[in-house]
Amino acid sequence: MGAAVAGVLGFLLLAAAGGSAGDEAREAAAVRALLARLLGPGRAAAFSVSVERALAAESGLDTYRLSGGGAGARVRVVGSTGVAAAAGLHRYLRDFCGCHVAWSGSQLRLPEPLPAVPEELTEATPNRYRYYQNVCTHSYSFVWWDWARWEKELDWMALNGINLALAWSGQEAIWQQVYLALGLTQSEIDEYFTGPAFLAWGRMGNLHTWGGPLPPSWHLKQLYLQHRILDRMRSFGMTPVLPAFAGHVPKAITRVFPQVNVTQLGSWGHFNCSYSCSFLLAPEDPLFPIIGSLFLRELTKEFGTDHIYGADTFNEMQPPSSEPSYLASATASVYQAMVTVDPDAVWLLQGWLFQHQPQFWGPAQVSAVLGAVPRGRLLVLDLFAESQPVYIRTASFQGQPFIWCMLHNFGGNHGLFGALEAVNRGPAAARLFPNSTMVGTGMAPEGIGQNEVVYALMAELGWRKDPVADLEAWVTGFAARRYGVSHRNTEAAWRLLLRSVYNCSGEACSGHNRSPLVRRPSLKMTTTVWYNRSDVFEAWRLLLTTTPSLTTSPTFRYDLLDVTRQAAQELVSLYYGEARTAYLNKELVPLLRAAGILVYELLPSLDKVLASDSRFLLGSWLEQARTAAVSEAEAHFYEQNSRYQLTLWGPEGNILDYANKQLAGLVADYYTPRWRLFMEMLVESLVRGVPFQQHQFDQNAFQLEQTFVLSTQRYPSQPHGDTVDLAKKLFLRYYPRLVAGSL
Ligand SMILES: *[C@@H]1O[C@H](CO)[C@@H](O)[C@H](O)[C@H]1NC(C)=O
Ligand SMILES: *[C@@H]1O[C@H](CO)[C@@H](O)[C@H](O)[C@H]1NC(C)=O
Ligand SMILES: *[C@@H]1O[C@H](CO)[C@@H](O)[C@H](O)[C@H]1NC(C)=O
Ligand SMILES: *[C@@H]1O[C@H](CO)[C@@H](O)[C@H](O)[C@H]1NC(C)=O
Ligand SMILES: *[C@@H]1O[C@H](CO)[C@@H](O)[C@H](O)[C@H]1NC(C)=O
Repeated sequence: MGAAVAGVLGFLLLAAAGGSAGDEAREAAAVRALLARLLGPGRAAAFSVSVERALAAESGLDTYRLSGGGAGARVRVVGSTGVAAAAGLHRYLRDFCGCHVAWSGSQLRLPEPLPAVPEELTEATPNRYRYYQNVCTHSYSFVWWDWARWEKELDWMALNGINLALAWSGQEAIWQQVYLALGLTQSEIDEYFTGPAFLAWGRMGNLHTWGGPLPPSWHLKQLYLQHRILDRMRSFGMTPVLPAFAGHVPKAITRVFPQVNVTQLGSWGHFNCSYSCSFLLAPEDPLFPIIGSLFLRELTKEFGTDHIYGADTFNEMQPPSSEPSYLASATASVYQAMVTVDPDAVWLLQGWLFQHQPQFWGPAQVSAVLGAVPRGRLLVLDLFAESQPVYIRTASFQGQPFIWCMLHNFGGNHGLFGALEAVNRGPAAARLFPNSTMVGTGMAPEGIGQNEVVYALMAELGWRKDPVADLEAWVTGFAARRYGVSHRNTEAAWRLLLRSVYNCSGEACSGHNRSPLVRRPSLKMTTTVWYNRSDVFEAWRLLLTTTPSLTTSPTFRYDLLDVTRQAAQELVSLYYGEARTAYLNKELVPLLRAAGILVYELLPSLDKVLASDSRFLLGSWLEQARTAAVSEAEAHFYEQNSRYQLTLWGPEGNILDYANKQLAGLVADYYTPRWRLFMEMLVESLVRGVPFQQHQFDQNAFQLEQTFVLSTQRYPSQPHGDTVDLAKKLFLRYYPRLVAGSL
């Protein structure tokens, strides 16, 4: 390890060292409480949990020690921090008890008595940090959460050994105070903030105004949540990352300070300047340090601090100049405002910008940013490292510390997807990179609640020095734990998924679900996938043949539904392909047949099977939004925010279907009417001998999409029907056709 690297690591270690006996006791108590929530107080009593900083004395890296168990003996879990103890506990539950904890449900059947740890087991992570979240996760997944849901997530984070995470709730309430103090009016502020479902992009300066304004009750609720979230994170010994000023300001600043030097940035995401083209304060403007320090002072007065702050000035935004001196000054001013308030400040930067606009961010531009902050004070998230790592082409971020992050998911899409081989090898390779300044691993999905196997692997890698040696064996164990029994068929199904959907590589491979099912139809959609569809259909068959023995397992039911959903998605592609071929060959009867099956059989069947599980209901999704409101008017407003996010994204379909989901209700009332219209127009085109007009279709489709968004129809938030029966029905209808090779 070079001297520079050691210096960087040294600084970061110092920043988080310390801790008294009081802290140890508090963290141990937090983990005991987690254990009681997870297993119930009775089972929790069979464990003894303590926190001893000294356990990590040598390496300074989080460490846990397991011992005890067996007849009559308590299982002893010692961690160097609360998070380390929780990770140790999870390790015990996973590897000794065969348990599983996941978003979709947990499998916690504990053997009786608790298995003994035959030899005391001590494990230290090679990673100073295990990071979690993406700025976008707050909008795609967390936006409507209450404390009960947050509490579950924080438990999941601790069990997965996460010790660094964004804590960005409630920041608009602080910004509001700051802007009022600066002389903006309430209505100017209201016009500036985006709606709740679009706050992530307001925070990064991509958007303003769209989907707003934020009601006063929103600020109160988010402040309350932020306090509870911070308390809990700190009680586990996690480091929360607070937001800082990145330079974006409301337009009204120019009314209050007519001399201020601001630059209007370009538009973002097909939004016009009513919603994007935000104003960036010039780095040399005297107002820059004033606003930056005012915000951070107010924020830390309210919430305290752990000295790491997130800010993104040019995320997906073209800077006004590519001059290195300008970029250095823009960067330095953000950092300066931080250290003015907190001399120990470390800046956490999402490195997404470098790989998103590589044509702009040449070596000189990247160097300007990385060099503008003292070494060790800029902590870079290599956000999409499993696919496009930036550390390689920047000589390990030129000596700034970085975290190897898996991004994996865009927009919280459903759709089975993963690059498990790349994820598995990535962190170890980055650590071995010459003069590597890697200080951690991370998960930075835009949305959660999908493809849990990918997150299980990544969380495990946070505590491993080397990749998992045999992914096939690993996924076999994963399946057994997930369902609580080892079964030949389910394990075979998972191996098929591993070699197909989860072994993504190449062009068609993407964390976006680009299935025609969830896109506005056209004659030009691609149906190519990176895997052999037969593997998915075969996995589907294998899971179904495992019923009824596993049907009481919530995680099995989830996977059965998810794979059925995936099979339906594949079938839509196949029938779409048939319909298109028939149309292009001007064959009416085959067109009618494929169109009829797709619109009147396949999509309705998919909607029905989704409707049988509470985890796949539009009704539950929208209910979350409504429940966050304090009045009917607010409930309506939040619901519309949520519907926009799922579909049009902006007023005119600006980022159409980006955050697509496959939920009961959404399939029936959004995707299906669009497909019906498309097929009708194709048929009409053939019958009347007139060309199909994509432009005309797009206009008509937009009417349907907008009707869905503006609709106030309520959807059930309770499941209806039996998943296994409905999945079987779908299977029996289509699988024989697939095997016979004729749809
Ligand atoms: C931006 O688009 C909206 C509709 O989406 C429109 O109402 C508004 O006038 C447009 N603003 C500008 C500046 O073009
Ligand atoms: C405004 O800021 C820009 C960018 O920093 C700078 O190039 C320009 O000279 C400034 N203009 C004035 C009038 O200070
Ligand atoms: C690693 O750092 C050392 C010391 O700064 C330097 O001499 C060496 O060239 C670096 N190696 C690479 C591959 O960058
Ligand atoms: C994934 O695909 C690669 C080729 O792209 C192959 O070498 C590897 O064995 C596959 N892994 C699994 C688990 O199937
Ligand atoms: C896909 O898998 C099926 C079943 O294993 C096999 O028959 C077929 O040849 C495979 N197709 C390709 C393109 O590899």
